Amino acid sequence: MSTPRPPDATAADVGDAVVALRARAPGVLPRVAVVLGSGWGGVTDHMAGAIRIPYADLPGFPQASVEGHAGELWLGRLGAVDVAVMGGRKHGYETGTVDGMKVPLRCLHALGCEVLVQTNAAGSLNADMGPGSLMLVSDHINLPQRSPLVGECGSERFVGMADAYDRALRLGARRVATRLGVHLHEGVYLWCFGPQFETPAEIRAFKLLGADAVGMSTVPETLIARHAGMRVLALSLITNMAAGLSDEPLSHALTLSAAKAASERAGGLLAAVIRSIPLGGAPDAGPS
Ligand code: HPA
Repeated sequence: MSTPRPPDATAADVGDAVVALRARAPGVLPRVAVVLGSGWGGVTDHMAGAIRIPYADLPGFPQASVEGHAGELWLGRLGAVDVAVMGGRKHGYETGTVDGMKVPLRCLHALGCEVLVQTNAAGSLNADMGPGSLMLVSDHINLPQRSPLVGECGSERFVGMADAYDRALRLGARRVATRLGVHLHEGVYLWCFGPQFETPAEIRAFKLLGADAVGMSTVPETLIARHAGMRVLALSLITNMAAGLSDEPLSHALTLSAAKAASERAGGLLAAVIRSIPLGGAPDAGPS
């Protein structure tokens, strides 16, 4: 006997968001969803035919509260790929809850997005991966052990995470970076809840755990996307050496200024990576 599903408030919200998006952008069928972290906004300069919709017009989309995170959705094309680019995300540290990206990501999945490309700013634990470096996320460590899937029903909630970051997408990203002559590191991203930065002792411990970079985002969105059946690719922009690994005091201002300095390079690589993503068949437009 299958598990009965209790009424899901999120499902209703996703429906509302889909209706609102279809009304604002009729006929637009994005195939790749992108979440922009600090420093990655330059990708929108490469988009053709972009429509911008403030999150405030989309039910269930997060109201931005962090400087450097814009709070609008861009719909347009990168090469032949129709994309939905989220300029701004909800972080766990803003509210203490980790499901702030559930409605937007499920809405974009319902519209036809089969791939989620995530980007973030992160601190480096590796001396050979300094500020300005770009890192392909090979895997993650969910240090807080929090999940936006708590409360979901059915066996789908037990999502396998062995292949959280899609192997073929990673191979494609590496090939694009090589073609462009961009050095792309690869490593494990460790999610810290924040909003405080880490202590040097924490960073030493995380190094022992196998982390290459630390940041305060990305993992909850990966869990939501994998639960929905989307393939995920994630890229980190290293804005600083992690606590205790350099004399520079950590601050959000430092993250933003390092992110700005790398923005053109990061945006160019991201645009090229997305253009190269192979997609399946045409999505069903669904009821208009
Ligand atoms: N720690 C956590 N999050 C971050 C960092 C860091 O050093 N840099 C950018 N985001």
